[in-house]
Amino acid sequence: MTAKERIDQLRKELHRHNYNYYVLNQPEISDKTFDDLMHELMALEEANPVYKDESSPSMRVGSDISKEFTQVAHKYPMLSLSNTYSEAEVTDFYDRVKRALNDEPFEICCELKYDGTSISLTYENGRLVRAVTRGDGEKGDDVTTNVKTIRTIPLVLHGDNYPEVFEIRGEILLPWTVFDELNKEREAREEPLFANPRNAAAGTLKLQNSSIVASRRLDAYLYYLLGDNLPSDGHYENLEEAAKWGFKISDAMRKCSNLEEVFQFINYWDVERRNLPVATDGIVLKVNSLRQQRHLGFTAKSPRWAIAYKFQAEQAVTRLNTVSFQVGRIGTITPVANLDPVQLSGTIVKRASLHNADIIESLDLHLGDMVNVEKGGEIIPKITGVDLSARADNIGEKVKFITHCPECGTKLVRFEGEAAFYCPNESSCPPQIKGRIEHFISRRAMNIDGLGPETVDLFYQTGLIHDAADLYALKAEDIIKQERFKQKLTDKIIKSINDSKDVPFERVLYALGIRFVGETVAKKLAKSIKNIDALEQAGYDTLVNIDEIGARIAQSIISFFAEESNRSIIERLKAAGVQLSLSETEEQETTTKLEGKSIVISGVFSHHSRDEYKDIIERNGGKNVGSISAKTSFILAGENMGPAKLEKAHKLGITIMNEEEFLNLIS
Ligand code: IVH
Repeated sequence: MTAKERIDQLRKELHRHNYNYYVLNQPEISDKTFDDLMHELMALEEANPVYKDESSPSMRVGSDISKEFTQVAHKYPMLSLSNTYSEAEVTDFYDRVKRALNDEPFEICCELKYDGTSISLTYENGRLVRAVTRGDGEKGDDVTTNVKTIRTIPLVLHGDNYPEVFEIRGEILLPWTVFDELNKEREAREEPLFANPRNAAAGTLKLQNSSIVASRRLDAYLYYLLGDNLPSDGHYENLEEAAKWGFKISDAMRKCSNLEEVFQFINYWDVERRNLPVATDGIVLKVNSLRQQRHLGFTAKSPRWAIAYKFQAEQAVTRLNTVSFQVGRIGTITPVANLDPVQLSGTIVKRASLHNADIIESLDLHLGDMVNVEKGGEIIPKITGVDLSARADNIGEKVKFITHCPECGTKLVRFEGEAAFYCPNESSCPPQIKGRIEHFISRRAMNIDGLGPETVDLFYQTGLIHDAADLYALKAEDIIKQERFKQKLTDKIIKSINDSKDVPFERVLYALGIRFVGETVAKKLAKSIKNIDALEQAGYDTLVNIDEIGARIAQSIISFFAEESNRSIIERLKAAGVQLSLSETEEQETTTKLEGKSIVISGVFSHHSRDEYKDIIERNGGKNVGSISAKTSFILAGENMGPAKLEKAHKLGITIMNEEEFLNLIS
C-alpha cells in the first residue's frame, strides 16, 4: 500500500471512530487503539506534507499557533427568536400561525433551546469549509480552526444525499462537568470564574490557541439546515437526514399536531432538563413545513414561523441576615448577601451576589428582609427581589454600601462609567498586596511551587514578605522557623523561587500584575519592547502603536511605572536575577521586518511547514490571516496554490511571493 493509500484509509477509519464515539456514544475500539491510529496518521502526514488536508481527523488536535479571526458575512442573516414566558403567549403564537396559514393544517416541531453559543457551519461537497460565529447577525468571526477541534462536528460527511453546498446552524456547548472542572482550575489560579457554561463556551471559541480549545471538550447540537436543495420540505425530516450525514441532532425533538402535545413537551422537559449534561433555557417551537415557513416569513429580527418558550428561572425565598463586602486582588469591592440556608436547584444556597451599589439601592434592601433568590444560568445565585409584605413592623436596618475599605479604611472610589467601587490603596491594602503576590507566584506567571494563599498570608502576617520581590530575599532559616514548615517543604519553596529566575520575560511581565496586562498583552509587549527599562521609558504614543495595545492598557502601564513602590519591586527583582528582558535567543528570533503586514499563506512548501511559516511571520512582527482581501500585503505561495485564491489575488493586484523570496526578505 502506498503512503497515500494508507493515509486515506486511516482518515476514513478515524472519521468513523470519531462519529461512533462522540455522536453515537458507541465506540468500537479502545482509546488506546484510536490514539495509535491517530499517531500513525500524523506521522505519515508529517512525512508526506503534500497530502496535507484541512479535513483530516488530525486537524482536530489543534495547533498552538495564534491566529486572529477574520470577519465573514453570513449568506443568510443569523436572526434571533422572539421569547415567550407563558402558556398564553404560546397559544397566541399558535393562533397567529393558524390565521396566517388560513387554517391550513400545520405541524410544530418542538426542540430544546440549548444555552450555548450559536455557530454557522458551511459544507461544500461534504466537507466542512467554514465555521462562523453569530457576530452581529450580519457578519461573524471565522472560527473554523477552533471548531475543527470539536469531535461531534463532522469534518467529512457520511452518505451521498447531502446538497453540494449547504449551511447548518447549531449551538456549541460546554458540558456542566467540564464547566465545573474549568472553574475549579480557575479558582485555584485565582482567575475570574466563568458565570455560566454559555460564557465559557463563547470564550473558548474565541481563544487564539486552538490546542487549548481542543482540551476543553466542547460539544455541539445542530438544529437548522439552510440551502437550496435540502432533502425534504419538513424541518424535522431534514434534521433526521442530517443525523445520517454524521451531525449530532438532539433526540429531544417532537413533531406536534396540536397545542396539547406542545404543552406536554414543554412540561416534560421543564423537569427532565435537569438531568441533561448541558444547559438548556427553554423550548423552541418551529412550524415544520419549509413551504409554510416561507409563507410566514420574517420580521426584521426574527422568523414568524418560530418562537422560544423560556423556562422560569428557579427561585426560592429566604431571609437576608447580613451583607459583607469583599476586597479583590485589584481592589474591587463585591457585596455579598449572607442568607438563611435554602435549597435551590439541587444545592444549598447560603450566599448570593448583590453585584453593586446601584442594585442594592434599587432593591431597597433591609436586613432581615425575606428575599427572592434566583439561579438562572449563572452559578452564583442572585437576589432579584424583596417580599415587602413579609416585612415586619420592626423593619431592619437599611443596607448601605460602604464608603471606606473594610480592610484598610481608605475612602472608596468609583471610576466614571463603572458600576463597581474600588479601594485605591494599592500599595498597602492587605488583600490587594497578598492578591498581587498570589498572582505573581501562580502557575502561569512565575510558577512558584509550595506557596499558596495560606502561606502567602502567613508570610505576610509575620512580616517575611511585603511584596513579590521580597520572595527572592527569603532564607531557608526564616521559613523553617515558622510553624508547620519542615525541611522538605522549605527546600522545595527555596528551590522553586530560584527556578523562577529562569521564567521568560513575557511571563514575568504578566506576573507583575499590571492592570489589563494579561498573558497575551504581556507577550506582545515583551516581543516589541524587549526589556523592562524600555517599557518604563515608553511613552503613550509608543505603547498605543504596538499591535493590540489601546489607550486603556497604555494608560495603565504608565500609571504602574509612576508608582515608586512598583519601581522599587522591579529594581529588587532585577538585582535578584529575574528575567526582565528577552533572552539573547528570544531576541535573535524576533524582528519587526514584517510589522504591519497581513500575510496569507497558501499552497504546499518545501523549506518549512505551513505552521513553521506562520510562526516565522509572527516572530517577525507580521500577521497571518486566513483569507485574501484588499488589506492583504502579500501572499506567501508554495506549490499548488488554489485557482480561486490565485484569481482573487490577481484581481486585487496582490503580490505573490515564493518561499525563497520570502526567506530572503526576512533573513
Ligand atoms: S433555531 C431563526 N433552535 O437561540 C432562528 N435556535 O434566540 C434560528 N437556540 O441564536 C434558530 N436552541 O443560538 C434554534 N433548537 C434551537 C435552539 C436555538 C438554542 C439559540 C440560537 C439562537 C437563539 C435564538
